[in-house]
Amino acid sequence: MPLVCLTDFEAHAREQLSKSTWDFIEGGADDCLTRDDNIAAFKKIRLRPRYLKDVSKVDTRTTIQGEEISTPICIAPTGFHCLAWPDGEMSTARAAQAAGICYITSTYASCSLEDIVATAPGGLRWFQLYVHPNRQLNKQLIQKVESLGFKALVITVDVPKIGNRRHNITNQVNLTKNLLLKDLGSPEKGNLMPYLQMSPIDSSICWDDLSWFQSMTRLPIILKGILTKEDAELAVKHNVHGIIVSNHGGRQLDEVPASIDALTEVVAAVKGKIEVYLDGGIRTGNDVLKALALGAKCVFLGRPILWGLAYKGEHGVEEVLNILKNEFHTSMTLTGCRSVAEISRDLIQFSRM
Ligand code: FNR
Repeated sequence: MPLVCLTDFEAHAREQLSKSTWDFIEGGADDCLTRDDNIAAFKKIRLRPRYLKDVSKVDTRTTIQGEEISTPICIAPTGFHCLAWPDGEMSTARAAQAAGICYITSTYASCSLEDIVATAPGGLRWFQLYVHPNRQLNKQLIQKVESLGFKALVITVDVPKIGNRRHNITNQVNLTKNLLLKDLGSPEKGNLMPYLQMSPIDSSICWDDLSWFQSMTRLPIILKGILTKEDAELAVKHNVHGIIVSNHGGRQLDEVPASIDALTEVVAAVKGKIEVYLDGGIRTGNDVLKALALGAKCVFLGRPILWGLAYKGEHGVEEVLNILKNEFHTSMTLTGCRSVAEISRDLIQFSRM
């Protein structure tokens, strides 16, 4: 049977993957309340279609940080793609390039950055940084991603400590042991990347540290994991170029708002000064439309990309992206939007549920 929507890929991945890999991908923190709410919150929003507009041509293209993407659906950073498919991030990078969208590569990628770039040299990529306690290592890594052609630096702010992921404890997940990191070595041997893949995260970083990152790179800096207007205002004040509204797919602090519920206050706080994006719970074209109607410039997919990889590697990710892009095209057409610029707040209402 063909897989026709993203949840079909989820069901397939559940059958395909080992229990510990499935749990690692799917799991959230504590009671998984936020993880589940990310999806449920979209379903409380209803659409207000407008008809008798000429929708014979619908254009899904848009831009992020000045770069064109074929549709406002991109790939969120997730670690360890080799758990889902043998050549992991290389497959993801090729699929993203074929789809003409942006792929945010994780600090915890299981392929080297050089291999990821070499396999899809024309792809638009941003790099996600977990700040390492050793400043010098961050500097080397940032310079490296800049020279490799990554177009933005995404600093994840919601992991000063890993959330309580009970399934990882139950399954005794030890990624250092389970993963085939071919040459786990030390930076002294000139082998920076594998060392960083398993590296600790600096929990002391604060707002004033951002200027240090800004001083060493020309790349735009995006903060991932902002959920409040207070932090959104601080982000603007500290001259970052964008915000990803995200709760880490419900894997960090449980019982925070669903991403789509946090979006409105963040968008209002930045007053159009910087771009705002969203990840968490995007599973249908209507979800994409709703996020854009509430002010997101584009959305990012986490788990669905790993389900696509588990299905057929590069081609599985391409299928996931194509299905969602087609669904989004349908959502635009049926609500009367000919271009992404025409998607507005008037298209949605909150239901009484
Ligand atoms: C993540 N996420 C994540 N975020 C990040 O900044 N760096 C990372 O390395 C990872 N790794 C990671 C692994 C796995 C298995 C998952 C599921 C998630 C969070 C990710 O970028 C994103 O915020 C969420 O996955 C979005 O929610 P959905 O699309 O999975 O519902």
